[in-house]
Amino acid sequence: MLDIQELSKKAVDWAKEAGKKSIELRKKQIKIKYKSSPSDLVTEVDQEIEKFLIGQILSSYSDHGIVGEEGFFKGDPKEYDTLWIIDPIDGTTNFVHQQVNYVISIAVVHKGEGLIGVVYDPTRDELFFAKKGEGATLNDRPIHLQTPVPLREGLICTSLFWNQRTEKLGLDHLVDELPRSCRGIRIYGCAALEMAYVAAGRVDAYISLSLNPWDFAASKIILEEAGGITSTIDGSTLTFEKANSVVASNPFLYKELMEFVARN
Ligand code: IPD
Ligand code: CA
Ligand code: CA
Repeated sequence: MLDIQELSKKAVDWAKEAGKKSIELRKKQIKIKYKSSPSDLVTEVDQEIEKFLIGQILSSYSDHGIVGEEGFFKGDPKEYDTLWIIDPIDGTTNFVHQQVNYVISIAVVHKGEGLIGVVYDPTRDELFFAKKGEGATLNDRPIHLQTPVPLREGLICTSLFWNQRTEKLGLDHLVDELPRSCRGIRIYGCAALEMAYVAAGRVDAYISLSLNPWDFAASKIILEEAGGITSTIDGSTLTFEKANSVVASNPFLYKELMEFVARN
């Protein structure tokens, strides 16, 4: 039997420790490598933190599987009932350039169901957390979305504007129309943070055409526990096992936002 209380405490402790490491390591000159292109970066800090998290997880839970962005855990996720889905640093480009607006993201998923979500922003010392069925918190204070927001008053986060896929998929019209239809657009370049901000009511929705499970897993759990809604851009259920488009929204805005996306 999984002890969810203990699991939560460990996930939070490890996220905070990883966050502290990121700040310490960033003080030194860090090595940056290109993955697929000059805008797709990885640093030795991303790698070191992923190895640290894998070491901690396996020392306590040797029968759990891990899906991490840097791919250091080699097991097949399908072979594990309990999976940790981790992004050691979400927002690597921000980490390199700005040293803010990046997070450590940790989700625990059991048989496809999200149990725990932890998103830790080390530079602001903000911890977004949720445990399935028990609500979401920001630094231990409950967060719950209760205020209706019409699209024209909404603040929307998105990566649509710099995503070449938008053009390929013929969504240029959506990109043109979105800023005219809402109060404002914000682009933080850190999907997990942007979705956590929807949960905290700091922005009202987030839209992306393609995210990997490690980008959205923890924040999906947090947002849903805060009363928000997630889906793919065509309204299908967002699951943890594959990359997908993501809509993450305040519950009151979701229907209007999806109608807007369908029209455009
Ligand atoms: C990226 C960020 C970014 C999103 C990209 C992700 P990374 O993650 O979350 O906001 O638009 O799709 O790949 O590479 O910084 O971990
Ligand atoms: Ca990421
Ligand atoms: Ca990453």
